[in-house]
Amino acid sequence: MASTTLSPSHLCSSGKRGIMLCPSQSQSVAVNGARLGKGKAKGRGVRITCQAGSIPADRVPDMGKRQLMNLLLLGAISLPTAGMLVPYATFFAPPGSGSSSGGTVAKDAIGNDIVAEQWLKAHGPGDRTLSQGLKGDPTYLVVEKDRTLATYGINAVCTHLGCVVPWNAAENKFICPCHGSQYNDQGRVVRGPAPLSLALAHCDVDNGKVVFVPWVETDFRTGDAPWWA
Ligand code: FES
Repeated sequence: MASTTLSPSHLCSSGKRGIMLCPSQSQSVAVNGARLGKGKAKGRGVRITCQAGSIPADRVPDMGKRQLMNLLLLGAISLPTAGMLVPYATFFAPPGSGSSSGGTVAKDAIGNDIVAEQWLKAHGPGDRTLSQGLKGDPTYLVVEKDRTLATYGINAVCTHLGCVVPWNAAENKFICPCHGSQYNDQGRVVRGPAPLSLALAHCDVDNGKVVFVPWVETDFRTGDAPWWA
């Protein structure tokens, strides 16, 4: 049993009945003698007794247990956090193309990857059929007269107000149904009100599949820098 002397100013308000908490943890203090009066205690030391209760050693977690609990806590926090951050981060990443060349694999009307060989069996010379291109834009695949795929695809979005421009085989032009703009068979504007030619994309074949790659070079139809890049 330990003893110490405290002046009345050390006693908290709850110590009026002679029992209070010691400054150190898990100790109780009993005031020796009678109840502390304001006048009597003032300016005098008061003899009190501290009874320090000890915590059994087997109830104090050792360092190994603490580290294990910290690891469990860290795991419990980090797993849900990662679960939220990964979808958030992938939202800002461009969608995977599935192409080793870094382009976007063209898709047909029902969303299947376009295989060049199969496409050319089903589409003859001079054919222009829509596929799903870069960023999901409707893009024409062009079959040349020698039954090969052209090295460019033509974005079908009208440069006037954004209608999808159909191919008119009889006129050998793309003719917009909205306001009558016309484009030649390579997508170059030949009649307004559309102000610009249709955008281009490179069209390659990678592992047998048709792949679109952004066109950032000079527009071979006009000799100008690509307005869409
Ligand atoms: S949207 Fe094509 S001509 Fe107006």
